[in-house]
Amino acid sequence: MTTAIPVPDSATAFGIYVHWPFCAAKCPYCDFNSHVRHQPPDEERFVAAFERELSHFAALTPGRTVTSIFLGGGTPSLMQASTVGALLDRIAALWPVAPDAEITLEANPGSAEAERFRGYRAAGVNRLSLGVQSLDDAALQTLGRIHSVAEALTAVELARATFPRLSFDLIYARPGQTLRDWEAELKKAAALAADHLSLYQLTIEPETPFFRLHEAGKLAVPDSDLAAEFYALTQEVAGAHGLPAYEISNHAAPGGESRHNLTYWRYQDYVGVGPGAHGRLTFDGSKRATMTEKHPERWLEGVERQGHGLVVDEALTLEETADEMLLMGLRLREGVARERYLKMSGRDFSPARLAFLNEHGFIEACGDGRLRTTRNGWLVLDSVVADLAA
Ligand SMILES: C[S@@+](CC[C@H](N)C(=O)[O-])C[C@H]1O[C@@H](n2cnc3c(N)ncnc32)[C@H](O)[C@@H]1O
Ligand code: SF4
Repeated sequence: MTTAIPVPDSATAFGIYVHWPFCAAKCPYCDFNSHVRHQPPDEERFVAAFERELSHFAALTPGRTVTSIFLGGGTPSLMQASTVGALLDRIAALWPVAPDAEITLEANPGSAEAERFRGYRAAGVNRLSLGVQSLDDAALQTLGRIHSVAEALTAVELARATFPRLSFDLIYARPGQTLRDWEAELKKAAALAADHLSLYQLTIEPETPFFRLHEAGKLAVPDSDLAAEFYALTQEVAGAHGLPAYEISNHAAPGGESRHNLTYWRYQDYVGVGPGAHGRLTFDGSKRATMTEKHPERWLEGVERQGHGLVVDEALTLEETADEMLLMGLRLREGVARERYLKMSGRDFSPARLAFLNEHGFIEACGDGRLRTTRNGWLVLDSVVADLAA
């Protein structure tokens, strides 16, 4: 049985993110740090580098207990199960890992990946996050995906039978998609879902093929009014199926929330290893931000040369810390604890701004001293955060 995760008042969560930067093909909408290589990457060499970078961070974080691990990408399901096993074993050798730690692997639904599911489970993965993206073959093609709906359904079924927990991702507000199409697709998805769904509105990211098509007038996406309707419909359908949003784009049954992602949004500590990974760690009450070299082979060389691939490792100012905490926390339904914000930033919200945002229905104060964004506020989150932080 699942129970709701209590909101912690201290920074006890400690996550480890490992980035696998390769994909079989590059999707035209995606600006994640993912690369296609004609030769399969040398997994052993990468594992050795991950291990060295993990050791670097372990030396900085004695006494911490790992509460979640996330193998993300890229396409981590291109890794052999033995590679995943070696990484998880290394993490367990470097830190104590909580017995109930959430260990997620991001997977694409191709049949080759699905064949590895049992191996990942045996290696210790207890949650799969599957990139289904659409339950419509024509839409999968538009999105440049290399899997079919039939493969996605097989992968969902196999994942449900293999892992204790499963989430899958869908992208909506796609070119040409109507509200009715999306309603039907989402209802099907909700019926297939376990305890978690990630529902992302398509965003047009700079320097992607979709961006260039959009600029050239060859790819139409919903305007902001229609996008708001898509969003409202998504909340309604997912909510009616017992999967309310606990974050702007993430829906879960109570207790099914991603603990790892909650660690980010609650602005707790996490280590990020692998090309282009970010981390946030607290030392003596202040946050440090880390980021590694993005380019996979340059990262590899950096780690082999100096034991880590860090290109950013700096203390954040109180102001930066406060802004990040708001930006992350206001994505969550549970919002931000005002007391923690005060403690971390040394400042309070302006009563005039609070009153303004509240009057316009963008934020609300909860009885327990938390401040949270309303559904309307989520639609304009960046402006809400900018207004509060100003
Ligand atoms: C880091 S990707 C990796 C997942 C996995 N490689 C896959 O594609 O199935 C995580 C998710 O971000 C979402 N995503 C990536 N680019 C997006 C975009 N431009 N708009 C909306 N969602 C996007 C997709 O749903 C994807 O599953
Ligand atoms: S969406 Fe996933 S599979 Fe596609 S390029 Fe991005 S990371 Fe790779």
